[in-house]
Amino acid sequence: MRKPLIAGNWKMNGNKETIKALINDINSKLMCIHDIDTVVAPPCIYLPLLNEINQNNNLKLAAQNTSQYDKGAYTGEISLNMLKEFNCEYVIVGHSERRTLFAETNQIIAEKFKAIQTAQLIPILCVGETLEQREANMTTEIVLEQINSVITCVGIEAFKNSIIAYEPVWAIGTGKTATPEQAQSVHSTVREHLAKEHATIASNIRILYGGSIKGGNAKDLLTQPDIDGGLVGGASLIAHEFITICQAASRNK
Ligand code: PGA
Repeated sequence: MRKPLIAGNWKMNGNKETIKALINDINSKLMCIHDIDTVVAPPCIYLPLLNEINQNNNLKLAAQNTSQYDKGAYTGEISLNMLKEFNCEYVIVGHSERRTLFAETNQIIAEKFKAIQTAQLIPILCVGETLEQREANMTTEIVLEQINSVITCVGIEAFKNSIIAYEPVWAIGTGKTATPEQAQSVHSTVREHLAKEHATIASNIRILYGGSIKGGNAKDLLTQPDIDGGLVGGASLIAHEFITICQAASRNK
C-alpha cells in the first residue's frame, strides 16, 4: 500500500511574516491527519526559519532546487549538504519552470537527481508535456523520455527511494486541471514502464499529480488508483485549501 504524499511548492512567494503565519496555520490543522506524508518547499532562504519554527514531525521540508555540485565556484548556487544542515529531506527536481525558464535539460536534471540520491535525500522528479506536445499525441513519448534520461544516468534502483510528479505543463498555474482520467492514464503508463525494469519499484513508487490541484478537485484526482498524492503550487499558499487537499488524500487511501 502506497502512503499518500501531499507536497506544497511555495515557489518564489512569501516573506518572513507570511511564511510564519502559513506554517503555523497549516500545522494547527494538520496535526490531526496522521495517515499521509506531508511536505512543504519554501523559497530556500526560509528553510532555516521553517526548520526552527516547524513543530510538526510529519511536515517535512523540501528544497525547490539544488546544485548538482558539492562545493566551489558556482555563484548563486546551493549545495545538498547546505540543504541537509537545515533538515531538508526532499528536493524537487525537473520542475517545468526550471526546465523552461532556467534551461535545465534532461541531462542536468539527471545529474541533479543523482546528486540528491547520493546525498541521501529524496528526489521529487517532475515530468510532463506541454499543450502542443499533448495535442500532437506526444505525451507518453515526452514523459517516458524524461524518465528514461534519469534511468540511464542513475539506474532503476535509484527510483527505490524517490518520487515522481506528473505535472502537465499546460495545467501548472493555469487553473486548467487534467481530468482524473487523463492523469490516471499517464500515471499508469509511467508505472507500467517502470515495471518493465523493476516490478517492485514500480508498484511501490509514489507518483504525484500536479497542476492546478485545489480543495475542490483533489478528491476526484486522488481517488484514481495510480495517483498517490499531489504536488500543489498556488493552493499550497492558502492553508485551508492545502488542508482540504490533505484531507482528500487522507480519507481515500
Ligand atoms: P499549481 O502548481 O498547483 O499552481 O498549478 C503546481 C506546481 O507547479 O508544482
